[in-house]
Amino acid sequence: MPQQETLPLEAAPYLDISNPEYSIRSPEVRAARDSSWYARTPYGLAVLRHHEMGKLLIHKSLRQGSHAWPEHNGVNEGHFAKWWGETILVTEGADHRRLRQLVNPAFSPKTVKKLLPEFERITNDLIDDFIEKGECDFMKDFADPYAGRVLALLIGLPEELAGEILELSASMGLALGVTYKQSLPEIEAATEKMYALVDSVLEERIANPGDDMLSMLASASQGEDKLSREELRNMGVMLAFAGVDTTRNQLGLGMSMFLQNPVQWEILAENPKLDMAASAECMRMRPTITWVTREAIEDFEFQGLEIAKGTTLHLFSESAGTDPEAFPEAQFDITAKRDKNYGFGGGMHLCLGQIVAKNDMAVAYRILSQRLTAPKANGQATYLPDSGNTGPTYLPIAFAKR
Ligand code: HEM
Repeated sequence: MPQQETLPLEAAPYLDISNPEYSIRSPEVRAARDSSWYARTPYGLAVLRHHEMGKLLIHKSLRQGSHAWPEHNGVNEGHFAKWWGETILVTEGADHRRLRQLVNPAFSPKTVKKLLPEFERITNDLIDDFIEKGECDFMKDFADPYAGRVLALLIGLPEELAGEILELSASMGLALGVTYKQSLPEIEAATEKMYALVDSVLEERIANPGDDMLSMLASASQGEDKLSREELRNMGVMLAFAGVDTTRNQLGLGMSMFLQNPVQWEILAENPKLDMAASAECMRMRPTITWVTREAIEDFEFQGLEIAKGTTLHLFSESAGTDPEAFPEAQFDITAKRDKNYGFGGGMHLCLGQIVAKNDMAVAYRILSQRLTAPKANGQATYLPDSGNTGPTYLPIAFAKR
């Protein structure tokens, strides 16, 4: 049973999360969570339990911690670093509130509801391409093109550009890994190309707004206030960057949960209204973003622990999502009533695209379960390392047509 009290810093467990072999799901992390709500790491502190993660996500003494990443990697200039330094994710305070107020309406449930038939069309199209074979690589044949085509639809680019968006966002994503500096030429080229893609539609959307989110953002205003041209470009690139890799990885991780739990697949097929619950339950147990980063902007005390200004905190969403205190019936169960999970982060920086993502994944799981029998593993899957941003790279499955 987890202890409630706070251990002194020197007695807290130590997790070497800088080791590439380290797994966020390891028995070591589970044991650390049983003995303490936090652990020490080479980067700062790791927060392991659901209750504390919820409180710290909204704590006023913390800011989003990803702003210093390029600098930490010795990169102080270039297209990616400049773009990153001005994204909504690293903006704080009044500037961040202004941006969220302007862009939030474009991501409302009402806007997303209109997109559901399109998500269904894309799902069915992709299934049509592989269903007769009785097998596929779920990543290459479904998760990759689905995430790319949904994003193209959102920002109003032709769906044929889905492959390019996927490749560019993956190359830009190298900037968030440990090989940032070595991959700099690829990252810089991809950032420039992504800007060019966004620019290619922006002028047109400003002149003739359509139904897509970029058009909505271009005409978004609060009184006299509007997004500037530079803010629009930055946001367009951010949507493509933040929305594609996350969605493909999360879909793949969800499929890996169903592979281990075929009964749940059948439950979903028979109860399509459970699709949103299925989408949330996959993320609770297998979040693609396994931790979100925060940084202390002042010295403060939290549950008896003194946290110094500048301390980095990694809030472990996977560990919080499987915390027995919050989820006593821990097994994967799409019918269970669950407390919220933090796979989309929380507080001021809660994922802007979370309603889109929850819904597009729900549609995908629902239609897949209705058209395919419970999938079986069809070879050895491969995965990205288990920490940071994770997901399958190859996920061969076999099934029958219903
Ligand atoms: C399964 C898919 C997705 C996952 C797992 C995910 C996860 C996250 C996480 C963990 C954060 C950081 C939250 C924090 O620091 O507290 C975030 C932020 C963000 N996400 Fe997502 N995301 C997904 C899809 C999307 C999509 C589809 C879009 C847009 C089309 C999007 C746009 C953003 C933006 C703009 C932010 C920054 C918000 C801010 O700082 O105010 N995401 N996302």
